[in-house]
Amino acid sequence: MSSELRFDGKVVVVTGSGAGLGRAYALAFAARGAKVVINDLGSGRHGDGSSTKVADQVVDEITKNGGIAVANYDSVLDGDKIIKTAIDAFGKIDILINNAGILRDKSFVKMSDNDWNIIQDVHLKGSMKTTHAAWPYFRKQKYGKIIFTSSNAALYGNFGQANYSAAKMGLIGLANTLSIEGQSSNISTNVIVPTAGSRLTEGIVPPDFWKELKPELIAPIVLWLCHDDCQENGSIIESALGWAGKCHIVRSNGVILRKNINDPVTLEAVRDNWSSVTDMSNAQRFETIAEEAADLMGVVDKLSQSSQQTDKTYSVKHTYNFKDAILYALSIGASIKDPREFRYLYESNDNFSVFPTYYVVYGPLAAFETTLIHDSLQRDDINLAGAVHGEQYLKVLKTIPVEANVETRVYFQDILDKGRHAFVLIKHETYEVDSGDKISEGQIVAIFQGAGGFGGKKKSIHEIPSYEMPKRKADFTVIQKTSVEQAAFYRLTSGDTNPLHIDPDVAKMVGFKQPIQHGLCSLGFSVRHVLNTFASGDSKLFDCLRARFSKPVIPGQTLKTDMWREGNRIHFQTTTVETNTPVITFAHVDLKDIKISEFASKL
Ligand code: NAI
Repeated sequence: MSSELRFDGKVVVVTGSGAGLGRAYALAFAARGAKVVINDLGSGRHGDGSSTKVADQVVDEITKNGGIAVANYDSVLDGDKIIKTAIDAFGKIDILINNAGILRDKSFVKMSDNDWNIIQDVHLKGSMKTTHAAWPYFRKQKYGKIIFTSSNAALYGNFGQANYSAAKMGLIGLANTLSIEGQSSNISTNVIVPTAGSRLTEGIVPPDFWKELKPELIAPIVLWLCHDDCQENGSIIESALGWAGKCHIVRSNGVILRKNINDPVTLEAVRDNWSSVTDMSNAQRFETIAEEAADLMGVVDKLSQSSQQTDKTYSVKHTYNFKDAILYALSIGASIKDPREFRYLYESNDNFSVFPTYYVVYGPLAAFETTLIHDSLQRDDINLAGAVHGEQYLKVLKTIPVEANVETRVYFQDILDKGRHAFVLIKHETYEVDSGDKISEGQIVAIFQGAGGFGGKKKSIHEIPSYEMPKRKADFTVIQKTSVEQAAFYRLTSGDTNPLHIDPDVAKMVGFKQPIQHGLCSLGFSVRHVLNTFASGDSKLFDCLRARFSKPVIPGQTLKTDMWREGNRIHFQTTTVETNTPVITFAHVDLKDIKISEFASKL
C-alpha cells in the first residue's frame, strides 16, 4: 500500500544491543539505512564481568549485510562516552534506544543494598545518563527520538522483582516529563514494554512459549516510534508476539468527601464513600498535569457552590426551537453548499443536530443580564459596560436537544489584576429545565479595561489551561469570508444586542473605528472549520473548546483558520486575511474521536 519506511542518513544508538531485543532493533535499523552504534558492556545476566565480543559480533553481522555500524563497550552509566562514539564516528545522533538491562531477582526480604543499587544504576540512572548526554545534540538540531524500555513488572508488579519494578517504573516517570520538556525542540520520547525470549527470560518463561516470543517481532514497533512519520510522544506501548497496544494511567472519577469548602474530611466520610473513591467504572485519562489540575479545580468550584447555596443564585431562562438552532448555524457561516453542514440547516435531515457551540451564547447573556458581576465585585470604579470578551471555554456534556427550555446559571470565580486591566472569571452552566440535565458548562474571561492595578493576585486556580499552537506549518487551513451583515445577523441569533456590533457611534465611543463582529461569532466560524475538517462535521464528536480573542474582526473580513492535530486535540489559530492579523489565538478544540472526511482530505 505504501512506500518502504527508511532511516537513511539517521544515526541511531542502541544500548545493550549485543544480544536479545537490542540486537534485533540494531539489525532492523541498519537494514533500513541507519548508521548504528552497537553499545554493549558484554556483562553477564546479573551484571557481572564485561566483554567486547557481543558488540563486535553484531557490528560484523551488520557490516556483512552491507550496513554501517560501530561498536562501543562502555556501561550505560558512562552514557557520555557512548554518545561520543556516535559523534566521533558519524558526526551526530538522531535516535537513542535505551535498552541495556540486567536482572537481580530476589524476594524483598532477601534483597541487599547492592541488589537494589545495581538495578537502579543500570536501568534508571544508565538510561538517564545516556539520554542526558544526547539531549543537547537533540535540542541543538531540533530533532530527536528517544525510547525507554520498561517492563510488565513495573506496570503490574512481579514477585521477586521489587528492585527491577521500581527502576522500570522510574523510566515511565522520566519519559513522561521528557516528552513534555522535549516538545518545543521536536524531541519525542516513548516507552516500550516488551516481552521477548532472551537470556533474561530464559528458564523463567516456559520453553515453548519462550521460542515464540521473538525479539524481531517487537523491533518494527520500536522502529515506527522512531520514524519521522510517527507523531507519537509520551506514550507507553506494550508489545509481544507480533501484537502491540497502548497503555494509559487512568483515574476514577472519585468523590468529594466533605460538603462545604470550610469543612474537614472525617475518617468516617472516607469509610462511607470508599466504594465511590475506588469505583473505576467511569475512570478517565488525563493527557496533561494541567488537565488533572483543572479537574481538581472543579472540586473547588463544587465546594464553593455548595457553600454558597444559601446565597442568591444568578440565572437566566431561555426557550428555543429548531428554527433558532438553524438561524444560529447560518449566523456562524454554515452553508447548504457543504454536505457536512446540511445537518445543522434542515430540520428533516436524518442527522439534524444543533451546532455544538450554540449554548456558548447563554454564558455572556446570563453574566451580563444578571447582577452577578456587580454584586460580586462591589467596585463602583469599574464600568461594566466597557467589558471585552477575553477568553472562552465550553464543554458539551450531553447531546444538545433540538428544542428545549434551558436555564443558565453563572458563578463568579475570581478577579485578577493583570496590570492595566482586570480579568474576571465567570463560570456558566446550562441545564435543560425539563430533564434537569446539565448540557454544557463553560468559562468566560471578561476583561474590564483600565480596571487593573488594584494590587490583586495575578493567577487563579480557576484559570483553564491554554496551549500555544505547534511550531510546524498548519496541517489544514480553511478560509471563509464573512458578510458585512454578519454581526447584524449574529446579534439577533445570539441575543447579544450590544450596539457596539452595529452602531458606528457607539463603536467610536468605546475606542473602535467601526462596529466589530462578536468574538463568539468568529469563534463559531473557526469551530465549524475544525469540526468539518477533523470530525466530518459530526457534532457528537465535539468535546470542548478554549480560545482567546486577541483582536477584533470587522464584519466582511475573511477568516483563515489554521489547524494542527495533536492526538484528539486540534489546535487552531484564526487570522483575518485582509490584514494578516491573528484574531483567535491559544485556541483548541478537543474531539472525542477523529473522523477526517474525504471532502477535507481533498482540500
Ligand atoms: P538481554 O540480556 O538479551 O540483553 C541486554 C543486553 O544489555 C546484554 O547484551 C547486556 O550485556 C547489556 N548490558 C547489560 N548491562 C549493561 C550496561 N551497564 N551497559 C551496556 N550494556 C549492558 O536482555 P533483553 O531481554 O534483550 O532485554 C533488553 C531490555 O528489555 C532490558 O532493559 C530488559 O530489562 C527489558 N525487558 C525485557 C523483557 C523480556 O521479556 N526480554 C521484558 C521487559 C523488559
